[in-house]
Amino acid sequence: MQSIHNMNEDIQRVLVNETELNRITFRIAEEIDRDYADSEHLLLLCILKGSVVFMSELMRKLTKPVEIDFMRVSSYGSGTVSSKNVNIILDIHRQDLSQCDVLIIEDIIDSGRTLAYLVDYLKLKGCKSVKTCTLLDKPSRREVDYKADYVGLEIPDEFVVGYGLDFDERYRTLPYVGILKPEAYQK
Ligand code: IMP
Ligand code: MG
Repeated sequence: MQSIHNMNEDIQRVLVNETELNRITFRIAEEIDRDYADSEHLLLLCILKGSVVFMSELMRKLTKPVEIDFMRVSSYGSGTVSSKNVNIILDIHRQDLSQCDVLIIEDIIDSGRTLAYLVDYLKLKGCKSVKTCTLLDKPSRREVDYKADYVGLEIPDEFVVGYGLDFDERYRTLPYVGILKPEAYQK
């Protein structure tokens, strides 16, 4: 098992620090509160596992009452290479979504496949509305045209970990977002 010190040593550079992450989540929470002021039934849908930290920070900064739910999908096999297919590993169980304004909470957009797929999937389920919110966005990596409704920060084409994001299930607990040293991929 790696300690936090070992994890820190695998980071080449901190890309988004705790202060900046706090500022981003406050800004997005304000936007959501404002945009959904008239919504009677806002459902935050956290995409496991990477979005769990962002979601928990964001929801505590909202003043609006919301419901939460979870889905888990896989687009990455293991490591840093994305696969083409999106598989649902854990589905949303509630049947009637016709009254729900669904806001999908994602950690990062890379190829765009996960969110493009999920938005279509949830619209087919009959949600009242479907929008998306991502902490990080790598627009230079897009393979399918997709733009989120709320974006925390655009970042360059680097593989990042921390604040929920992992490499092979590691580094999720780091309190900041950092660029992983290439040597760490070989560990
Ligand atoms: P997309 O379907 O290619 O847009 O991939 C989105 C998913 O890939 C995210 O939900 C992440 O789980 C994962 N991902 C993409 N880039 C990174 C990264 O830099 N670090 C960690 N996970 C990433
Ligand atoms: Mg992941």
